Amino acid sequence: TMEQVTTIADIRIHIKEAKREGKRIGFVPTMGFLHEGHLSLVKAAREMCDLVVMSIFVNPLQFGPNEDFERYPRSIERDSEMASSAGVDLLFTPDVNEMYPRPILTNVSVANVTAPLCGASRPGHFDGVATVVTKLFQIVQPDYAFFGQKDAQQVAVITQMVADLSMPIEIVPCPIVREADGLAMSSRNVYLSQEERTQALVLSESLQQAKKWLEEGMALGEIKDSVIQKISERPLASIDYVEVLRFPDLEPVTQEKTGQSIMIALAVYFGKTRLIDNLITEIR
Ligand code: PAJ
Repeated sequence: TMEQVTTIADIRIHIKEAKREGKRIGFVPTMGFLHEGHLSLVKAAREMCDLVVMSIFVNPLQFGPNEDFERYPRSIERDSEMASSAGVDLLFTPDVNEMYPRPILTNVSVANVTAPLCGASRPGHFDGVATVVTKLFQIVQPDYAFFGQKDAQQVAVITQMVADLSMPIEIVPCPIVREADGLAMSSRNVYLSQEERTQALVLSESLQQAKKWLEEGMALGEIKDSVIQKISERPLASIDYVEVLRFPDLEPVTQEKTGQSIMIALAVYFGKTRLIDNLITEIR
């Protein structure tokens, strides 16, 4: 049966006990409003660990002043049931006052990998992510932490941070989970109207198309332009970015050489809702 705790003091008691018993601790940090994407991380954690800890915390530090912090979907009761049936052992659900009882004066900031994509569109976002994840890592002290490739840049940032700061944690990236029609699962999908939901399929469709174009030998610049063209055909879509970058360092592709791993990454608005998706593949 799952334990749910809301204070740092209480979770420390559970973690201390688990460590004493020599348990391998797996950690799945989330902002809640859980879906199959989150639960796939729990499944991966269960396979590798003895104690699976999930956090649900909508972290104000990672939202910009004009973003959706206030209206971000929340449903702790539903989440708690889903987490429990998925096999979470310990659910940590602090409130903002528990995590930030006074103004936080410390910031964890990762350079370079945070420069392009969402880092460029959402100034300060990855500082907020790196800072809260550091704090959660200090609280949970996991051996393994599980992150989805849906947020591929987030994985790059956290992997870099853990290496740079010698955190004794293995970051485990997990594949993107999609709806049956291809839309990447996201807590933000509930914001979409029916028409926006239909048109949002253009994200996964254009990534699949891009993969085909790549296999046919189309140049990266042309692929990027064609993806932009394809998305622009949907009247409700407004492009934030379409980028092709070297993976995993997220640097520009300087020369197109066979076998080079690349990421095609998209961020597109439908109304006020910003959706992201990506595809990692290689140049052939
Ligand atoms: P959140 O958006 O709730 O996502 C929590 C974890 O679930 C992240 O690792 C994310 O990549 C993963 N995830 C979300 N949708 C997914 C999908 N369709 N397939 C696979 N994995 C998916 O990411 C955050 O929260 C926050 O930034 C957090 C790391 C918790 C720090 O506040």
